[in-house]
Amino acid sequence: MRPFSVAISGKGGTGKTTVAALLVRSLISAGQVPVLAVDADPNANLHEALGVEIQETLGSLREEAFTQQIPPGMNRRDYISLCFRKSLVEAKGFDLIAMGRPEGTGCYCFANNLLTTSMQLLERDYRFVVIDNEAGMEHLARGTIGIPDLFLVVSDPGVRGIRTAARIRNLARSLGLGTVPVILVLNRWKGTPLDNLPAVFGKPVLVPEDPAVESADIEGSPVASLPPGSTALAAIEQLAETIIRMAVEKDRVSPP
Ligand SMILES: Nc1ncnc2c1ncn2[C@@H]1O[C@H](COP(=O)(O)OP(=O)(O)O)[C@@H](O)[C@H]1O
Ligand SMILES: [Mg+2]
Repeated sequence: MRPFSVAISGKGGTGKTTVAALLVRSLISAGQVPVLAVDADPNANLHEALGVEIQETLGSLREEAFTQQIPPGMNRRDYISLCFRKSLVEAKGFDLIAMGRPEGTGCYCFANNLLTTSMQLLERDYRFVVIDNEAGMEHLARGTIGIPDLFLVVSDPGVRGIRTAARIRNLARSLGLGTVPVILVLNRWKGTPLDNLPAVFGKPVLVPEDPAVESADIEGSPVASLPPGSTALAAIEQLAETIIRMAVEKDRVSPP
C-alpha cells in the first residue's frame, strides 16, 4: 500500500507537536504500522514528545554530504541515501526522521532533490506519514516532503490562532495544494462556543484542554505515553479513525 501522509501545521505553541505525537500513538494502537514521523520544525522536539532520541538531523547530514569525503566506490547519491537511512530513528511501531534547520548559504538544490527522492523511497515502507511542520511550511514549499494527503491545521480556540489557521490554509492554496483536504483541529478547547469559525473550515476536531498533557510537559515525560483515559488522547484517537477511513477511501478510488 502507498503511505497516506498527514501534514500538521499551525501557529507556534498551539499544540502541533502534541497532536502529531498523539496521532502517531493512535495510529499505532489502531494497528496502522509502521508510521513514519517526520519532524519538519527547525526547533525539533517531536522526538521528545515520542520518547526517542535523535542522533543527527537531515539538515546536518546535508551539510556533511558536501564537506566530507565520500567513501571510495560510492557515488554521492548512494552516499546520501545511505546517510539518510542512517539518520532514521527506529522505534516500536514507528520511525522518526528530523529535518533540522534549513540550510544557510550556497546552492543545495542537488542535495534537496536527493532528499526528496530518498524521502519517496523511504515513504514506500510506511502505511502513514505524520509530519510536524513549522508554521511557515518551509519543507512543503520546497517540495522536500511531497504533497500531503491531508492537512491538519492546529489552532487554539482564540481569534488570533484561527486567523493564522485561515492564513495557513491560504498559503497551502497558493503553493498549489488547494485540492488537499484541510481539517481544523481546535486544541485546548475549554467548551467555548464556536460561532466565530470561518466558514472555510468544515466541522473542527475538538481537543480538550487536558491536565494530563500539562503534567507530561511539566514532568518532561513523552506526551505520547499519556495514560489511557486522557481526554486529549481520546479526541486524537477519534481523529485517527477518521484519517484511517480517508486512507482506505484513497486506496479505493486510486489503487496503488
Ligand atoms: N490539549 C492540551 N491540553 C493541555 N496542554 C496542552 C494541550 N496541547 C498542548 N498543550 C501544551 O501546550 C504547549 C505547546 O504545545 P506544543 O505541542 O509544543 O505546540 P507547538 O508544537 O505547536 O509549538 C505545551 O506545553 C503542551 O504541553
Ligand atoms: Mg512543536
